[in-house]
Amino acid sequence: MSQYHPLATQLNETIETHHSVLYSALSQRGKHIFFPFSGILGQTAEAKGKKWNATIGIALEEDGSPMRLQCIDSHTDLAPEDEYTYASSFGKSELRELWRKMLYVKNPSLQAEVSVPVVACGLTHALSVAMYLFIDPDESLIVPDLYWGNYNLMFKYVYGAQFQTFSTFENSGFSVRSLRESLSGSVGKKVVLLNFPNNPSGYTPTKEEAGEIVSVIKERAEAGDTLVVLLDDAYFGLVYEDGVYDESLFAPLVDLHERVIVVKIDGATKEDYVWGYRIGFITCAGKGMNAQVLGALEAKLAGVVRATVSNVSHMSQSILIQAYKTTDYEAQKREKYALLKARYEKVQEVLREPKYKEVFTALPYNSGYFMCVKLREGLDAEALRTQLLKEYDTGVIAIGDMFRIAYSSLPIADIPSLFENLYSACTSSLRSS
Ligand SMILES: Cc1ncc(COP(=O)(O)O)c(C=O)c1O
Repeated sequence: MSQYHPLATQLNETIETHHSVLYSALSQRGKHIFFPFSGILGQTAEAKGKKWNATIGIALEEDGSPMRLQCIDSHTDLAPEDEYTYASSFGKSELRELWRKMLYVKNPSLQAEVSVPVVACGLTHALSVAMYLFIDPDESLIVPDLYWGNYNLMFKYVYGAQFQTFSTFENSGFSVRSLRESLSGSVGKKVVLLNFPNNPSGYTPTKEEAGEIVSVIKERAEAGDTLVVLLDDAYFGLVYEDGVYDESLFAPLVDLHERVIVVKIDGATKEDYVWGYRIGFITCAGKGMNAQVLGALEAKLAGVVRATVSNVSHMSQSILIQAYKTTDYEAQKREKYALLKARYEKVQEVLREPKYKEVFTALPYNSGYFMCVKLREGLDAEALRTQLLKEYDTGVIAIGDMFRIAYSSLPIADIPSLFENLYSACTSSLRSS
């Protein structure tokens, strides 16, 4: 496939003319992709409102409303047009605009123009769409060594990326030194993926560390690198300590340097507690990206959505639009935040008990859904995990020599007994070894 489709050529020309760095950072697949404005979707849009309209592949009732079964319709009170029909491959425009506006509210220091978020099928799909545009097989993906396990399947095995990991932590904080080292080396294109609050560690950089991360990226851009910074902001907003950076790195990065391209991946999944709704967003920005470039990028992103899942649940999008317009949406969110923060504080209180240090130590954590404990040498996390299941009625995730604990899903009253169970399993394993 060497020739670009004429619609891809148009988008490529727009991008190359207005932002040659962005064009050079696109993957081969990214250069080929386009949104088929002139195909079925375009022809259907042109026929909208016609009396005899036989374009779109849905079925209508005799009165022209979407055909539907009463046994399904009885479960919701959404207008049939907001539920049964296909949503645009870009996502519902009202939802996209609402999410964009909310980005500026959630990130008060964000000033620059950003693309209109494109809706994806959850963050998993949003990440995948971003990779489609920006990484070629065998290209390196720079990522901290503590990352969400599904990145392996998605980026290594589907996209063929080579992971170049760096140490997440140094002493009790984020290892800016390790990030800097990982980014050094010969000048060229570098794709970096950062996820804060982090899964699995539950760590977000302090304000100072966030400033240093931004400085490292700027240094590299000034040295001649082209950096594509992908931000997985799945757990955005769940920061529990003062002094921790509580905006997205998107804000300070988008206006940093012409050679820094920023892609924000976020969504309703964790932020609004709708894991099964499958709504994620991809928003791009970078210094020098004007409206034409951002529009061309949106068309490419929507082209990948069209090619992979066609479009995203219309019902989920419509419910979220209503939610974001509800007057006490913010108050409801604050209530859930307070509950998760209380669980975080309970974990901290429980872990003040000195005996736990005999068998495990907590990795730095201050945000999100999780925290990790590193087991003392001689303890086998996988063996203990199965023992915890069998003998202690307790489930945790074993990762190497650590356990990941999703305290987000534990009632406050159960948190002490969970750690007591871990302690008992560890001590009994040490006694029998
Ligand atoms: C860091 C991180 N990114 C992305 C996702 C995927 O989110 P979604 O369920 O919206 O696909 C998860 C889910 O666990 C996650 O932990």
